[in-house]
Amino acid sequence: MDPRTPRRLALSVMLCGLVAGSACGDKGGPEAKPAPAKHGASAKEKEQAAAKKKEAIPDVSAAQILERAKPLFSPLPEVMASPDNPVTDAKVELGRMLYYDTRLSKNHDISCNTCHDLEKYGVDPRGTPTSAGHKGQMGDRNSPTVYNAALQIAQFWDGREPTVEAQAKQPILNPVEMAMPNEAAVVAVLESIPGYVEKFKAAFPDDAKPVTYDNMAKAIGAFERKLVTPAPFDQFLAGNMGALNKKQLWGLQLFMDVGCTTCHTGPGLGGTMFQKLGSVKPWPTKDEGRYKVTKQEADKFVFKVPILRNITKTGPYLHDGSIADLGEMVQKMAEHQTAKGRLSDAELDALLAFLDALTGEIPKELIAKPELPASGPNTPKPDPS
Ligand code: HEC
Ligand code: HEC
Repeated sequence: MDPRTPRRLALSVMLCGLVAGSACGDKGGPEAKPAPAKHGASAKEKEQAAAKKKEAIPDVSAAQILERAKPLFSPLPEVMASPDNPVTDAKVELGRMLYYDTRLSKNHDISCNTCHDLEKYGVDPRGTPTSAGHKGQMGDRNSPTVYNAALQIAQFWDGREPTVEAQAKQPILNPVEMAMPNEAAVVAVLESIPGYVEKFKAAFPDDAKPVTYDNMAKAIGAFERKLVTPAPFDQFLAGNMGALNKKQLWGLQLFMDVGCTTCHTGPGLGGTMFQKLGSVKPWPTKDEGRYKVTKQEADKFVFKVPILRNITKTGPYLHDGSIADLGEMVQKMAEHQTAKGRLSDAELDALLAFLDALTGEIPKELIAKPELPASGPNTPKPDPS
């Protein structure tokens, strides 16, 4: 009996409790959701199939796997720091408020948290392939998680913004997202709320004019730079050989053997490079990805390799949210992105078990919904047009 099983269970029960009424369970990891049994399989056949899967796990040495893994990955930092925007308590406090504030949207009905729900691992809690914004308009890409996002070389599926600070300026002005008309209108909203004027002063004490669009983005960015979710995999990388069970260890070995690590590497298991979707076997998609940004022929269908932290919780998958099931996603990756081709059931099972070891703890205190400062007499009213 694996001595860690009860702890892991306790943790997931705790997290499910925390996000009560959420998709917890139906979007759970491979252990929470066993593969559906083949049509007509009897209980005995199911047992035999399960026993076979167990048998198929080869003997793997945790120490050897750790040595191989160390140069490819690294544990999450405590803060995803940047010299350009030092993380201070005052900025984080302000950034958290702005993150939850729907008054940054035209109709006062959408905040960052609408599409990146911090209690739901930073993705759209509606579970749709792409997200509805202002007046219910649908965007054309899937909402990626904001947890651990600041680790990456660039933001967005096509990497068109370099940092979380630069990224934060976009959705507020995007007509199908938060739909504010321009930066000046956003600054006017912030200036109309006396509580915010105070908070900006505290967060940017050296600035003659603290309430600016740039500083708003810096505050949100500072908050996002603390959104890390340490997981059992980090304990393993730190040398705790018991942090992964046998199946997960084999899954990690497969992740390296199959060559997932050609692309999914670094502390986020992704976010370090751009690669073509369909690099080995073509992938049908209309979205030309990074080509839209660089206009280089070689960048057609190239996307940022996404991070795999909390991947069991962040579906649906891909830039267009076209794949709902993680097992199917991993199988397609093996077929379209690696020379391996189709994975056996036992291999897929082990890879999914490993990916579940990337499910981390949500920083409850950091993300607690703050009380927002009251609107002033000049705060614009919601505009549904
Ligand atoms: C209407 C839904 C919606 C809202 C509101 C929204 N986002 Fe997003 N967000 C998305 C989508 C969709 C993408 C991916 C778009 C793309 O790649 O072209 C994205 C991408 C991101 C990314 C990049 C993550 C990565 O891995 O590349 C970050 C960070 C982010 N959003 C943060 C925010 C913040 C901060 C706010 C509030 C200021 C916000 N979002 C508001 C839908 C939304
Ligand atoms: C040649 C590079 C490459 C290799 C090898 C590769 N991937 Fe990927 N992976 C990508 C890219 C690029 C995307 C994002 C595609 C998109 O934007 O739609 C992706 C997406 C994913 C996703 C969906 C992430 C999300 O948030 O939607 C998962 C899961 C995944 N890969 C797992 C794996 C696994 C497991 C392996 C090994 C079997 C693997 N990948 C091998 C490049 C690669």
